[in-house]
Amino acid sequence: MAKLVINENKTEGHINPEIYGHFSEHLGRCIYEGLYVKEDSGIPNVNGMRTDVVEALKEMQIPVLRWPGGCFADEYHWKDGIGPKENRKKMINTHWGGVVEDNSFGTHEFFELCRQLGCKTYVNGNVGSGTVQEMSEWVEYMTFEGVSPMADLRKKNGHEKAWKVDYFGVGNENWGCGGNMTPEYYGNLYRRYQTYVRHYQDSAPIQKICGGPNAGDDNWTKKVLETCFASPAPEDAHGFMDGLSMHYYTVPGESWMNKGSATEFTTDGWYQALGKALHMDDLIKKHGAILDQYDPEKKIGLIVDEWGNWHEVEPGTNPGFLYQQNTMRDALVAAVTLNIFNKHCDRVKMACIAQLINVLQSVILTEGEKMILTPTYHIFHMYKYHQDAELLHSDLTGVDTIQNGEFSIPALQESVSVQKDGTITVTLANLSAEQSYPVEIALTEKKNRTVSAKILTGAMNAHNTFEEPDAVKEESFEGVAEKDGTLSLEIPACSVICLRIS
Ligand code: AHR
Repeated sequence: MAKLVINENKTEGHINPEIYGHFSEHLGRCIYEGLYVKEDSGIPNVNGMRTDVVEALKEMQIPVLRWPGGCFADEYHWKDGIGPKENRKKMINTHWGGVVEDNSFGTHEFFELCRQLGCKTYVNGNVGSGTVQEMSEWVEYMTFEGVSPMADLRKKNGHEKAWKVDYFGVGNENWGCGGNMTPEYYGNLYRRYQTYVRHYQDSAPIQKICGGPNAGDDNWTKKVLETCFASPAPEDAHGFMDGLSMHYYTVPGESWMNKGSATEFTTDGWYQALGKALHMDDLIKKHGAILDQYDPEKKIGLIVDEWGNWHEVEPGTNPGFLYQQNTMRDALVAAVTLNIFNKHCDRVKMACIAQLINVLQSVILTEGEKMILTPTYHIFHMYKYHQDAELLHSDLTGVDTIQNGEFSIPALQESVSVQKDGTITVTLANLSAEQSYPVEIALTEKKNRTVSAKILTGAMNAHNTFEEPDAVKEESFEGVAEKDGTLSLEIPACSVICLRIS
């Protein structure tokens, strides 16, 4: 029998809410239709932002939003997206589907969206095809309060007060779509560009994010850090960064050329996805160990600002739009990945699943005025209590190992945290597609507890559609028994349970 021992007296780090962050790119129907429908749309909106979507994201407690890309960021020229909409430049979105980008969603709209969501802002700058001046002027435009050419321009465009940029990314995937650079070359560019990401406000400084590796590319991490930490640099410069990004996508199929369907898969496809998702743990350890050499105090966050499942697009949709469905398999991938992030909260300070709406592993899908929540949404919703909580030491033993091809997968996986008011949250995932397991949960203090629980469960390829929007949804779970401070339950196959213990 599996046994989970929770040590209530041993906290292991703070879970930054931003670990539960999201990513929105000018890609397919993420920004246009998904988030922004324009002010005169028949779809209910506030200043162009869809009310249904904003409400759902607030309910999920979205902590931070990254924008405008992705690959799009290194082709984005921010001045095209300000001023009267009728004068804004139209361009072709060459990366994503070759469609017309009319720039009607730009800087002002992004901050308006984040205002409505009540979330932090993560703006990604352009290093690949932009100049230092362009980047520095953007920061001035967004954050300078006084008299200056860019602050004046912002005011002329209708926004008197400066905005708060919480995080600023200096380029994106500069080893690939962001300029095909070598790590040494990018490292030097990073040092130069970040110099002009000025801090104009009294509030906390902008957190600067340096472009990090693609998955397991430790050479990139080593060389970029070597370059950024090399002298000449002031003692306290700390590599000139607050965070180093890392991107890792789970591609369940054979290869990038044959990724496999989001909804039509066998148990092999199920375990392949979970086996690859669990690899996130190795990646964090690998890059974390290199970071430790430069930053043993863990001041620099590992920022996993793109992660999630990448399947073939839905049949009949534009291949450049990356629109995919979302099943219980995606839910389990999200659940195990978020548990991994929680357990590495000493180093992982932010993460953004790709992408928010209608692209890759989304939490919401829309079709015109209709909107559905995906199984992945429900995981983020169930896990929201971990945000801003303290990680508790937990030890799960007696767990079966499932062997599927090259993958050895633990049948159960968990993370545990405690909130300021003392409520403990346990998120427990059963990765088996076929078998339920009894689990006993022991807490340090043997006292009577109040327990409530939610479950997300279903067949492995169960998913929500516009015809059946609630096929997969959170339900109350009544199967927790308590005796002398010990809890026991049976977790069904293919499910995630969130326990709230007080
Ligand atoms: O999320 C889709 C794309 O994946 C992003 O634009 C890019 O950064 C990554 O390769």
